[in-house]
Amino acid sequence: MSENKIINLALVCCGTVGGGVINILTKNHALIKKRLGLELTLKYVVDVKRPDELDEKLFPGMKFCDRIEPVINDPQVDIVIHLVGGEALEREFILSSLKKGKHVVTANKALLAKHGAAIFREALAHKCHVGFEASVAGGIPVIKALKEGLAANHIKAIYGIINGTANYILTSMQRAGCSFEDALATAQAKGYAEADPSFDVEGIDSAHKITILAELAYGGLVDFNSVYAEGIERITLNDLRYAEEFGYTVKLLGIAQMNQKLDVRVHPAMIPTQHLLAKVDGVYNAVYIEGDMVGPTIYYGQGAGREPTASAVMADVIEIAQRLISNRDKNAGDYNVLNYFSKNSLELLGPENINTGYYIRFMTIDQPGVLAQISGVLGAHKISISAVTQKERHAGDIVPIILMTHTAPEQAVAAALTEVERLSVVKEPPLKIRVMNELSGEEK
Ligand code: HSE
Repeated sequence: MSENKIINLALVCCGTVGGGVINILTKNHALIKKRLGLELTLKYVVDVKRPDELDEKLFPGMKFCDRIEPVINDPQVDIVIHLVGGEALEREFILSSLKKGKHVVTANKALLAKHGAAIFREALAHKCHVGFEASVAGGIPVIKALKEGLAANHIKAIYGIINGTANYILTSMQRAGCSFEDALATAQAKGYAEADPSFDVEGIDSAHKITILAELAYGGLVDFNSVYAEGIERITLNDLRYAEEFGYTVKLLGIAQMNQKLDVRVHPAMIPTQHLLAKVDGVYNAVYIEGDMVGPTIYYGQGAGREPTASAVMADVIEIAQRLISNRDKNAGDYNVLNYFSKNSLELLGPENINTGYYIRFMTIDQPGVLAQISGVLGAHKISISAVTQKERHAGDIVPIILMTHTAPEQAVAAALTEVERLSVVKEPPLKIRVMNELSGEEK
């Protein structure tokens, strides 16, 4: 730590979230100084191009550079905020910072989900802190909730709406009846979406985040490549409306729960409309965490966007600064949650072992006997139907038939749907949405 009672920061990449960090350092400078009892100084901003809005008068002595080397070679720099995004370069930058003894704050969920162990090992070797609150659920302090608030609990389940873009799209489609494409374009314009928005809509971003939460909650490494991820691309406005009629809201959900083995997955899910999670709209995120002692808890807030994410970044900066000031970590690795990210790999329950209820949409020719053929196949696979609806009537044309099932094994449903798809009257692969019986208080 620098000696003159200041903590020196460097910001690597001044994009959307970096701009939010600058804003917080400017607007809440006095508040943060009061809370910390000393000054946080932005000593470097690193970017390929100087950001237009970077007002050096607000940060006297700040240096702008387009390379990271001056930052990591400056012994006065205490904390490096890494916001480059992507994987290879960010990994290289973070590891170089740690090797030089710099404490690190990152929002990079993809990197942590895939290479968390390597980063935390390096951090431990150099007695450095790594803050990653902003990597999951934007401004919601859910990492702190797991590490601190719920530290005395076995975690029974985590259900998270953890992608703001996907939630924004589903909400806009339902509320405004707008198209998937229009809702996505607005989410991108507002800065919510990933550089590659397919990460948002295909559930990959949520899979990164639920991997991190599962590792923290269940104390071991989760193989990101084995986490099942399914997105919202095939969900139509009609599916959302049918779901509503059955008393459900469709959300893209990250799930982590212990059922003898660890069950970690991401997919669209039907949540009972009365459940708090069903009421989480727009870019907002919410994470439901059930502990064995505390029971159910919910954390809610903006899961994407400039200032909310920067708020989480700065929370880590402030926590690390507090630790440096009080010099209370003999072994900085404790904060690096190595106790959570242990070297043990956690064995995952494959998605084929899911048991749940299903909403299934079949696009079929509208003619007598079709429903009998479909229900015959489901019956042969011992899948029990709880409700059926066909609203549209266009004899000879293609119409949706909607079917709800009682709890059934995923394998049986998959096998039945493969068989149904082969029927000549069925014109598209059936769409299934899993129903969250766990949240309805009904049988599991
Ligand atoms: N693209 C992400 C989202 C940003 O929409 O939630 C926050 O990680």
